[in-house]
Amino acid sequence: MKTSSKKRRRKENLVVIGAQWGDEGKAKMVDVLTEQVDIVARYQGGSNAGHTVVADGRKFVFHQIPSGILHEGKKCVIGNGVVLDPLGLLEEMNSLVQAGVKVRNRLIISDRAHLLMPYHRLLDGASETHKGRAKIGTTNRGIGPAYMDKMARVGLKVVDLLEPAYFRSKVREVAKEKNFWLKKYYGQAEVDADKTADAYLKIAPQIRPLVADTTAYLEGRLQAGENILAEGAQGTLLDVDFGTYPYVTSSSASVGGVCTGLGIGPQWLDEIYGVTKAYTTRVGEGPFPSEMEPDFGEKIRKRGGEYGATTGRPRRCGWLDLVALQYACRVNGFTGILLTKLDVLSYLQTISLCVGYKVKGQIIREFPASLRRLADCRPVYKEMKGWKGDLSSASRVGDLPAEARRYLDEIEKTIQVPIQWVSVGPDRAQIFQKP
Ligand code: IMP
Repeated sequence: MKTSSKKRRRKENLVVIGAQWGDEGKAKMVDVLTEQVDIVARYQGGSNAGHTVVADGRKFVFHQIPSGILHEGKKCVIGNGVVLDPLGLLEEMNSLVQAGVKVRNRLIISDRAHLLMPYHRLLDGASETHKGRAKIGTTNRGIGPAYMDKMARVGLKVVDLLEPAYFRSKVREVAKEKNFWLKKYYGQAEVDADKTADAYLKIAPQIRPLVADTTAYLEGRLQAGENILAEGAQGTLLDVDFGTYPYVTSSSASVGGVCTGLGIGPQWLDEIYGVTKAYTTRVGEGPFPSEMEPDFGEKIRKRGGEYGATTGRPRRCGWLDLVALQYACRVNGFTGILLTKLDVLSYLQTISLCVGYKVKGQIIREFPASLRRLADCRPVYKEMKGWKGDLSSASRVGDLPAEARRYLDEIEKTIQVPIQWVSVGPDRAQIFQKP
């Protein structure tokens, strides 16, 4: 009989989740925390994610492969909750191999993960164009249509790719409906079902050795005393349930997605870390109460290098929104916060912290469900004194100017969750633990 995991002493399992609208610096945190775990596992999203890690002066951008791959000896899992673009995956693997990173025998893909198909990408683009000014501002990677198919029970899974005759017949069947939408509704070119099946079946032999029942794999490793880090993509405010719907992604980026996206029970989750920048950014459309004035936002964008890793789009910049952060703490049950990019706020006279919203003459501190109401919210700021000095070589909290420490204290006081790590620059070394 298996020992109850609660009774056993074991290594802690970690979860890293975006506490904002994505791009919080999760990949860097995952990269640092990977030292403490045996396995890094992605549980949702797909190639819409763009995770940037600077290691030993070299920049790596990951879309589908967990950023833990840079650590030799660690295993990486792509869970069933991910929608996998197998062609993109092979490209990513090849570029890692060219950079001298060993990938084979270290990357394991769930047989239950759904496949992202070329028609998903076409439908994503067509739907966005069709929506005009009401577009979501997606990454155009086909993510929404792929998750739609999963829920509509017409999706294709990784395991299907390993059964060529079934795969081809299913692609033909599904493509009929997709072509109806592409041609008749959007007035676009159709996809060729057989060419699509050919392209996927051609690469199937390269994918096959990576495929496994990852739920059994993870359970086996956990029972053997190893530990995992569950790596989230996007962020809580882009979560399909808790985000600023419809300006969200189509998956569960928050903590619930870990169990459904990896097939492990909640009793295995120990530390749940929320990653937030010292300010806020968002790409794509949708209300953003603490958004900065355009000229000032441009200054922060330049300083923080706030351009999308997947699409290159400039990110909208805003002050740190504690109403939204408190909400993210609640829906995820964060046990700790990892705060990134504190250095970007250096040399400002004052720093604004959004501590409430004013709407229709009332001050509220709850993140509204209605987007119309959220769009009407005006930020209520607490003004904090800024600090002078370069933080990039700070290696402990005592190295920070008093004003920066006060800024961190004020955040902790409001959200009631401890800040456990502070990052002060893009490099692996530019980070320290806060006692
Ligand atoms: P989709 O995930 O491509 O469907 O895009 C839906 C929304 O999520 C858009 O606002 C995108 O900009 C946003 N989004 C998707 N992936 C990321 C990400 O990795 N970082 C930040 N925003 C993202």
